[in-house]
Amino acid sequence: MGCAISGSGLTPRTAESRHTEDEAPARLTPDHIQLIRESWKVIQEDIAKVGIIMFVRVMSFIEKSVARLDQLERLETLARELGRSHFRYNAPPKYYGYVGAEFICAVRPVLKDRWTPELEQAWQTLFQYVTAIMEDGYLEEERSRRSHTLTSSKQRPDKRNTAI
Ligand code: HEM
Repeated sequence: MGCAISGSGLTPRTAESRHTEDEAPARLTPDHIQLIRESWKVIQEDIAKVGIIMFVRVMSFIEKSVARLDQLERLETLARELGRSHFRYNAPPKYYGYVGAEFICAVRPVLKDRWTPELEQAWQTLFQYVTAIMEDGYLEEERSRRSHTLTSSKQRPDKRNTAI
């Protein structure tokens, strides 16, 4: 997946090059404005939906995690399985930190002045803990897929050999 914006006038330029290239400033026509307004509604609704779904998923996971805080081995099993399923979703660990940070930002206002630096530290630690286990699960799944692929390609005879 990629975003092909190069050559579209959206690639970064310095203030100096903007002057020397002697280019007319971009002009927003009424058509542009109408197109932007119409598409923004769709973008906004869709992104809000994605955000809400993601937040609900994370909330339900946190609810289960909180219920397992005095049975850490059960919490570990849950987080490991989640990491394994995230390999299947193609959602790599490098992004898990953002989810924790977003979650903390979203819940902070709920607790108003009951939110303290110690509480923030506690939530951060919970996310670090579960996302580290998720990462283990992700890597386990990746390894098991890789060894499965290797084994099945060894078992399947190469067509060139069987043709002799
Ligand atoms: C702390 C990090 C995260 C947590 C706690 C979390 C939690 C969850 C949960 C509870 C589910 C429900 C399905 C299941 O249990 O397997 C889920 C599904 C999913 N998550 Fe995450 N997630 C996290 C990070 C991410 C990230 C970073 C991405 C994308 C880069 C992602 C993409 C997905 C996708 C694609 C699904 C499956 C959607 C579907 O087909 O229903 N997740 N996640």
